[in-house]
Amino acid sequence: MHIVMTGGTSGFGQEAARRMAAAGHSLTIGARGRGADNATTRFVRLDLEDLASIDAFAEAVRRGAPVDALVLNAGLQLAAPERMANGIEKTFFVNHLAHVRLLHRLLGDLAPGTRVVLTGSGTHDPAEKTPVTPPDHADARRLAYPDTDPTLPRAPRKQAFRAYSSSKLACIMIARHLARLRPDLSVMAFDPGYVPWTGLGRANHPIIAALVSIILPRTMARDRSSTVPLSGGFLADLATAPVYAEERGTYWSVRKPNLVAIEPSTLARDDAAAAKLWEDSLALLGLA
Ligand SMILES: NC(=O)c1ccc[n+]([C@@H]2O[C@H](COP(=O)([O-])OP(=O)(O)OC[C@H]3O[C@@H](n4cnc5c(N)ncnc54)[C@H](OP(=O)(O)O)[C@@H]3O)[C@@H](O)[C@H]2O)c1
Repeated sequence: MHIVMTGGTSGFGQEAARRMAAAGHSLTIGARGRGADNATTRFVRLDLEDLASIDAFAEAVRRGAPVDALVLNAGLQLAAPERMANGIEKTFFVNHLAHVRLLHRLLGDLAPGTRVVLTGSGTHDPAEKTPVTPPDHADARRLAYPDTDPTLPRAPRKQAFRAYSSSKLACIMIARHLARLRPDLSVMAFDPGYVPWTGLGRANHPIIAALVSIILPRTMARDRSSTVPLSGGFLADLATAPVYAEERGTYWSVRKPNLVAIEPSTLARDDAAAAKLWEDSLALLGLA
């Protein structure tokens, strides 16, 4: 298979890429820093903070070999709120809007049967009671411009956390919406559980990030704490294993040592809100 991937340069995404390449698949990885191309893997420049870079990456993919699986795994988590030069909140832009743009650019070229995997997170679901402030809504305009959002938490750290959980909610809703828009594709969302020792905590001081990686797995439900090999293996399976060839927006979540299909949060199951999220996101990107 030919797998096109974001977020394949670090954390469990890098592990998934390594496994898929070792299994004989060919990969095109969108990367900010250039990796070293080899017989199975090609690195193409992609900065998800930059619309021109996203469009150029999409064009390179469209000119290349047909895509069998599109794995949208890149993501960031900030310690304090940040805005892009265009004024849009950065977490929502990189984790959600940038991937919507990429999807929009590539959709017309994806043949029936192509898999699309979007990495979400259990933090999207208030019922999971994670340490990350949960979402209050999936209104794209208010998430893009939080200063216009009356529900914005006061504390900057909570604002950053909620931006993260909301962006992951958006990824799960887009998976469900895409499955309705293109029932010929195999679409799924992935919750890797909590995976310590990845780059996700890099916005924090390294000592804080290390402490979180050590302490959190000891304080949370044992089956929700994962590892790079376990979640990387599951992500590779979703993209390539025959058993996941006909998914219609399923939410796959790690319950160590298993990967289980579960219902996402109540907000995530609001199909009308997901359709609006897609349309509003395209409008924010100037594509509607
Ligand atoms: N770790 C967890 O507990 C956990 C839990 C739930 C969900 N997730 C999600 O899982 C995914 C992978 O996270 P991880 O924990 O493996 O973290 P990670 O090690 O920090 O990996 C993040 C990946 O996203 C890429 N990325 C970030 N910003 C980018 C940009 N502007 N342009 C292009 N690529 C960009 C990074 O590229 P560089 O190598 O260039 O930085 C890296 O490949 C993320 O979507 C995250 O939200 C993680």
